[in-house]
Amino acid sequence: MPGVVGSAAADYSSSDSLGTSAAQTRSAAVEDLIRQDPGRFRVLTGDRPTGQLHLGHYFGTLHNRVRLQDLGVEMFVLIADYQVLTDRDVADHLVEHVEGLVLDYLAIGIDPDQSTVFAHSAIPALNQLLLPFLSLVSVAELGRNPTVKDEIAHSRQSAVSGLMFTYPAHQAADILFCKANLVPVGQDQLPHLELTRSIARRFNDRYGTGAGLFPEPDALLSDAPLLLGTDGTKMSKSRGNAIALAASADETARLIRGAKTDADRHITYDPVNRPEVSSLVLLAALCLGRDPHQIADDIGNAGAATLKNTVSEAVNEYLAPIRARRKQLAQDRGLIRQVLREGNERATAVADATLTDVRAAMNSVY
Ligand code: TRP
Repeated sequence: MPGVVGSAAADYSSSDSLGTSAAQTRSAAVEDLIRQDPGRFRVLTGDRPTGQLHLGHYFGTLHNRVRLQDLGVEMFVLIADYQVLTDRDVADHLVEHVEGLVLDYLAIGIDPDQSTVFAHSAIPALNQLLLPFLSLVSVAELGRNPTVKDEIAHSRQSAVSGLMFTYPAHQAADILFCKANLVPVGQDQLPHLELTRSIARRFNDRYGTGAGLFPEPDALLSDAPLLLGTDGTKMSKSRGNAIALAASADETARLIRGAKTDADRHITYDPVNRPEVSSLVLLAALCLGRDPHQIADDIGNAGAATLKNTVSEAVNEYLAPIRARRKQLAQDRGLIRQVLREGNERATAVADATLTDVRAAMNSVY
């Protein structure tokens, strides 16, 4: 999401307006419940360790995680290292990516005493859930998943691996191993969440566990509009259009200076008709905590160069404390390893308990 201007409508309205708006309505209701009683929620969120987290991640979901944590919601933060196995470039630098992700989490304010940060490959009982879960989904169902189709189309790989094809069922194990009932996600993850809900429901039905062994988790959609990358398409590391949280101030300014705009000198906030300019305005607005229309009005006829200066300053100022903290934490690799070790231990205990329940429900305790 660079060029940093995009509208959710532009990306999603044609494909899934109904499902999305239902999820949005539900998300708003869940927000009320969270404020009333944060203790009734257990959140599972996660990222693939594909490289440094960027501003699209930050305003899309990371910021929201810290908010939920600080409201007192119990949280599991998963590093989906099995989901990057088929990406050779990433797999060659896995340790670096995983540790970088932990650093990013700590720098933005994830508190390892309150939230459990772990890697799913380190949790055997989580992975064992995949087998009974796979028995509850059809091959056709997996093949219809629009996000998987999209990833297959963009995967630069000659053959689709079984792992890639089945990863939404694995993701259900990621969520259900800790019986999470709330999953903050971007809209592209909604099909996976729908499958997770189906698996939970089918497991409960099939193995007759009364009130239900598994909850059917809700999606929590962020209300922040999508940021575009510097080229005007979805911000993503693999597209080379992202501004990393850990980038230097100079690099940030350079990337923003190179961001795509349009020929109209007068700056407006109009995400539908002027996605690139509007994404830049939005980025400044998010960093400054101001209304994007006001920011656009302030710049008015001063043009794209002024807009870009405003954005660079706003981003660099916003990220300065996060970057400083990251730099400081990066000097203590032992701490990063310890956060992971302790998170893995906590997640393992939870997964073991769930697997024990699952085996009892399936009548396979010998
Ligand atoms: N597929 C998610 C992504 O690409 C990462 C992920 C893996 C995840 N397991 C999860 C997200 C479980 C939410 C819940 O970003």
